[in-house]
Amino acid sequence: MSECSVRLTTGAEWFPSSDMAELGPLAESIFAGTLPATSRGIQRPRRDDWFRTKTIREVVHPKLSVLAVNNDQAIGYVLVGAPLSLPGVARTAGIGLLPHARAKGLGSAMLEKAVAVAHSFGLRTMQILTEDSYLGWYQQHSFLAHRRQHTLIAFGRAEPPTQLMWGSFLDDFQLSEDSAYCNWLHEAWEGTPAKLRLTLTTHAEGIGPIHAWVSQEGSALLVHRVEAPQTSKPRGMTVNVFAALLRALPHGKPVLLVGCDAAESYTHLLLEDEWAIAQTSTIMVRRLGGE
Ligand SMILES: CC(C)(COP(=O)(O)OP(=O)(O)OC[C@H]1O[C@@H](n2cnc3c(N)ncnc32)[C@H](O)[C@@H]1OP(=O)(O)O)[C@@H](O)C(=O)NCCC(=O)NCCS
Repeated sequence: MSECSVRLTTGAEWFPSSDMAELGPLAESIFAGTLPATSRGIQRPRRDDWFRTKTIREVVHPKLSVLAVNNDQAIGYVLVGAPLSLPGVARTAGIGLLPHARAKGLGSAMLEKAVAVAHSFGLRTMQILTEDSYLGWYQQHSFLAHRRQHTLIAFGRAEPPTQLMWGSFLDDFQLSEDSAYCNWLHEAWEGTPAKLRLTLTTHAEGIGPIHAWVSQEGSALLVHRVEAPQTSKPRGMTVNVFAALLRALPHGKPVLLVGCDAAESYTHLLLEDEWAIAQTSTIMVRRLGGE
């Protein structure tokens, strides 16, 4: 690859269809040999449509995303979205280059171009969720660690066996941040096909009804959000909430709880109980403009 033949462009300029899911085969080549969400006991093979699902769930926008193109072939990307639930935030949903194009400054150039594009659209910060191995790389690009979060894993234990009502949701339910566990991306929930998600209501001892927003991810269940009536999340209550959740989910099914703030007491309580860490990531943030 000759360096000077590589150009950076946006997804909107490159794809007349504006369909960022067309980058699926490139993503396959970039991440070949790696499996997502490796955890104790489970390795999730990618579904065929994983990349399309990702672009929908993370509201990847062609005008905000950047491509590296060499000889009319896309060889790398920075996927960026601007979810309405995060006003003013450009949210990076993935960055990658084909192996032969790495370690030559191209990743840095793509990231800086994505920063400039997001700034030109009036967005105020850029956010990225990264695993520990790339913390240093983002720090070199003026990103600061904002929040560390875990995906926790435990196993369902409904007795007798239970059937989940996929596609059923709470009508007219008012979401409340005060009584919510887990940091979800609302768009990731809404962007999951209805037949693969449900809102579950069950009863927690000493607490009353609790609600969980659950989707099906291969052989696992992904819990995006849990709401319980109490706002204070005291010790015994938290454990009861999540014990009730596991009792409502099929016996032996891996249950992944995403977006658990590593600094929050409920996360520590669950780790002392029957939950384990499946994955840890850090939300990194960079202010745009005025640097
Ligand atoms: C992430 C990626 C796009 C970076 O692009 P790149 O073109 O290889 O990176 P650059 O050449 O711009 O930057 C390399 C510099 O970062 C440093 N660096 C590389 N990886 C690093 C890491 N994990 N932590 C800290 N520094 C790192 C290199 O030492 C180099 O520094 P130097 O210029 O002082 O020698 C590329 O490595 C890639 O595609 N990786 C695989 C896909 C992936 O895992 N993506 C997820 C990232 S969250």
